[in-house]
Amino acid sequence: MVGSVLMQRMQDEGDFANINPVFFSTSNAGGAAPSFADGAGKLEDAFDLETLAKLPIIVTAQGGDYTKQVHSDLRGRGWDGLWIDAASTLRMNDDSIIVLDPINRDVIDKGLVNGTRDYIGGNCTVSCMLMGLGGLFKNDLVEWGTSMTYQAASGGGARHMRELLSQFGTLNAEVSTELDDPASAILEIDRKVLAHQRTDIDATQFGVPLAGSLIPWIDADLGNGQSKEEWKAGVETNKILGTSEENRIIMDGLCIRIGAMRSHSQALTLKLREDLPVAEIESLLAADNEWAKVVPNTKEASMADLTPVAASGTLDIPVGRIRKMEMGPNYISAFTVGDQLLWGAAEPLRRMLNIATGSL
Ligand code: HSE
Repeated sequence: MVGSVLMQRMQDEGDFANINPVFFSTSNAGGAAPSFADGAGKLEDAFDLETLAKLPIIVTAQGGDYTKQVHSDLRGRGWDGLWIDAASTLRMNDDSIIVLDPINRDVIDKGLVNGTRDYIGGNCTVSCMLMGLGGLFKNDLVEWGTSMTYQAASGGGARHMRELLSQFGTLNAEVSTELDDPASAILEIDRKVLAHQRTDIDATQFGVPLAGSLIPWIDADLGNGQSKEEWKAGVETNKILGTSEENRIIMDGLCIRIGAMRSHSQALTLKLREDLPVAEIESLLAADNEWAKVVPNTKEASMADLTPVAASGTLDIPVGRIRKMEMGPNYISAFTVGDQLLWGAAEPLRRMLNIATGSL
């Protein structure tokens, strides 16, 4: 899915004109390369190290297993090109950089000068959060933060999105007769829905029903009460920003799967280093990058513009619900939403390719 979104974005932005692409496949070597890439020939075998090693830059959205299988063998045979991928496999290595150029272009540029060769897209939730709140993080105004996430089905993959929609469908089918009858009892409808969720709903992908429910755990159990997704918030935020150990920003929270399609949201509590007026905070956020869109903290604006439905399919990162919290003048709330397939996955990769080729 990330690969499809990436290719579409590269076509939309004319990126293929800046490169001589060679396409690889793990399953269809010898097949035709995409028709939009003039003269690209046939699909090469994605496990053919010799052919891969001829290239100056490799971009892959194939996933962590492919990175594990191929990356170290390629490096082992002396390949010193740039590797750009979206998997977490290499993300926290000392010799890799997490790419999110509107936030850390300085870190990327320094890496290119200093010979860093692995450029990895960040965790989707972290990338979307930093795109929305860059104006606070980049100005070193955040002492610590909690981030409570509302993550979409797409984070699990294409099959998970299909499962969510099928679940909505079977739940509806279970009670469609009663729904058509305005006189039917809502508690009876609820009982039938719950019985279906608890007994025979198909939850092969997520393991438990997501439609009409939520799942308060994402990714592996680290054994200390924290999920791997939650761990990423702290370590990746600091790595992207390039903060030193003594200036480390503490970020932690709970990661929750909800029944949205492809946009991840998160509710944040931030402790700022200064007591800044809300208007100044909003100006900093709006000025940081062209994609952060400050949503006024009103019911109407929040309902219209600060939702997965509003953000999906766009590069905008709405950021709103900004207000001072009762804990004190340095504490603010915030809520961000972002399409996890765009800024959360494909966009940082295509931009990194353009940076590497000197087109951005
Ligand atoms: N781990 C994320 C999720 C997706 O499950 O939503 C990719 O970063």
